[in-house]
Parts: sequence; structure tokens; C-alpha cells
Amino acid sequence: LNNGLARTPQMGEARWNSWNFFACNINETVIKETADALISTGLADLGYVYVNIDDCWSSVTRDSKGQLVPDPKTFPSGIKALADYIHGKGLKLGIYSDAGAFTCQVRPGSLFHENDDASLFSSWGVDYLKYDNCFNLGIKPEKRYPPMRDALNATGRTILYSLCEWGVDDPALWAGKIGNSWRTTDDINDTWASMTTIADLNDKWASYAGPGGWNDPDMLEVGNGGMSYQEYRCHFSIWALMKAPLLIGCDVRNMTAETFEIISNEEVLAVNQDSLGVQGRKVYETGTDGCLQVWAGPLSGHRVAVVLWNRCSNAATIIAGWAALGLESSTRVSVRDLWKVRKIDHTKMFLRMLWHHLVLELTATTVRCIFSLLRQSLAQQFSL
Ligand code: GLA
Repeated sequence: LNNGLARTPQMGEARWNSWNFFACNINETVIKETADALISTGLADLGYVYVNIDDCWSSVTRDSKGQLVPDPKTFPSGIKALADYIHGKGLKLGIYSDAGAFTCQVRPGSLFHENDDASLFSSWGVDYLKYDNCFNLGIKPEKRYPPMRDALNATGRTILYSLCEWGVDDPALWAGKIGNSWRTTDDINDTWASMTTIADLNDKWASYAGPGGWNDPDMLEVGNGGMSYQEYRCHFSIWALMKAPLLIGCDVRNMTAETFEIISNEEVLAVNQDSLGVQGRKVYETGTDGCLQVWAGPLSGHRVAVVLWNRCSNAATIIAGWAALGLESSTRVSVRDLWKVRKIDHTKMFLRMLWHHLVLELTATTVRCIFSLLRQSLAQQFSL
């Protein structure tokens, strides 16, 4: 959507897209504490600026004038006060509604109330709307999502518009002019199986992503406990490479050092936020059921980001050939390992690269994926 927003994928605290960790169990205190934690941990400085409230912030009925009302028990100070608090910290506030009669947790939806609700959100100082798909009365999303875009636009406030319609009717094909991002799949859950499946489904739509409109494979599960450190590192690497919105889905007030290390890797974040805005994709797979994979995508400045991903259960050697990476066979590069995995024999890696391959052994248990950045020595363009 050409509204000046999301020129790079949006970043924020997604449990407020609070669903992954907190579900309905949210209130204004926990949201303020999250904003505080984004600041005190330094995550805000790294770009995680959206603090997004998910479902359950509103009362179960509209008021006598037909307006949405914050739940008086959990948000007694109202959303405007919360927005003021969050803006006071230099952060931005996201809110949630639904392109249907009700939200997924059966609070009032915004279908046929688009103008009223958009004006209300704007008057509160909301910066971001996640717009869900429950209780949609069987009306096609192509019909239900544009009215809220127009209503948001009419408010005069610039509000990031995030479509959450779970990939119904292949939104990549039509949502580029409607929203700043669109969910391509059902909800993620905190398992390796869910994460890998969603990565593959989202990959299909790579060519439709770009500045202003991104494929959204759902929030991050990093730090929620269902995957290993190695697996979370792959999750974050692939989401960054796919130019996914990076919405943290764990409790940043209580995260472990390992979780922080993953979500704060500045070089990985820089791949996600690169100005070229091209979604990296799976470029090669081999092994049983294609469990040895190379994912890659071009970056600005004659660079290419490459994830070598071992989804097999054993140690294996993954070879990324220059042809799969879209490089001329004569291309000379320098390479950086963005996770700085010490086990890599860099000498060997450099030598082998002269033969126009990146060759690495990944052990699956101790190292499951490598995120590497290649910088071309000659001024050549990539054509992935
Ligand atoms: C749907 C969405 C989730 C979350 C919940 C809240 O399932 O896809 O991301 O917002 O609703 O009810």
C-alpha cells in the first residue's frame, strides 16, 4: 500500500500482537511494562518500535452510540492514555480489529463500522491496525478489506494497515494495493513443524513482496520455549531473509539472554531492513524430502544473504553453488557469518569459495543453520 509506511518490514513487540504468549490475558499495565522493556533492553533502538495490542482489548459490546469501548477492567485508562504513554517513549501503538461481525475472541468487529472505528482509532493516536478475519459472514476478503483501507486513509492519520486473513484467496495476488502486509498462512505455533511449514508456504509468494507491502508469515515464536536455541535461530534467520514483519512474540520483560541474542543480532536485522526490499527465497534443496536447503536473496550494495539450513536430523554438508545464488560463475566474494558460529573453518570456507561454492558442514544438533552474507568483489548485479 502506497501510504508511505512499511518501506521496510515493520518491527515491534508482537505479543501485543500479544497473541503468541499472552493471548487474551492482556491489560494496560503489561503493555506499558512491555514498552518500558523495549526501551531498557535497547530493542527499541534496534527498530522494534511498534507495541501492538491484539484481540481482547475491547468490551464485548459497543456503547449506546455504537462506538467501540476499551474493556473497563483491563484498560481502565483507555487507549488514548496508553497511546500517549507509548508515544512519550518514542514508540508507536498498534491495535487490533476484525473484518467481520466479531473478533476471533467474540468482541465487536469492524465490518460495516469501518469509518466510525477508523476515526476512533485515529483520535486515540493509533499507528497500526491488525485486521483479522473471524465471523466474516462469508463475504470475500477482497470486498471486506478495502473499506477499512479507505476509512483509515480518510482519517488523515498515517496508520500501518496489516491484513490478517490467513492467506484466504491468496492475498499476495491482490493485497498490494490494500495493505502494508498480509498474512499468507494460518496461525503459527511454537513448534519446529509449524515454523518450517509456514516458511515454505510463505516462500511461494516471494515475488509479490516489496517496499510498502510484505508477505506476513505471522509473529515470531523465538523465546516461547517450544523450540531449541538452534531452531529459533533458524526461525529468526528465515523470517529476516523473507523480509517478514518482525513482531516479537515472547515476553520481553522476562526473556533469556539467548532469546535476546537472537532477536537483537544487528547484522541479521539489517538484512531484514535492507533498502532493496527483495524477499529471499528457497533456491536449492536436496537430501531426504529436501531437508538440506539453501535460501538466499539479493541485498543492496552488491551483496547477497544466504541461509544454509539443515532440516535433516544428521550432520550434513550443504553446498551453495554460485548458479543457485544467481551469481556469475567467475564472481569473487568475501563472506561474513552473521551468527559468528565459531565451529566454521573460515579458512576452508574462503578457499572453497574460489571454486564458486560455499561449502559448510552443519551438524543439526549444534549448528542447524548458517546465515552468511556475501559481498561481491567485482561490480556485478545479482539476478535472483
Ligand atoms: C486470529 C489471528 C491471531 C490472533 C487471534 C486473536 O487467530 O490469526 O494472530 O490475532 O486471532 O484472537
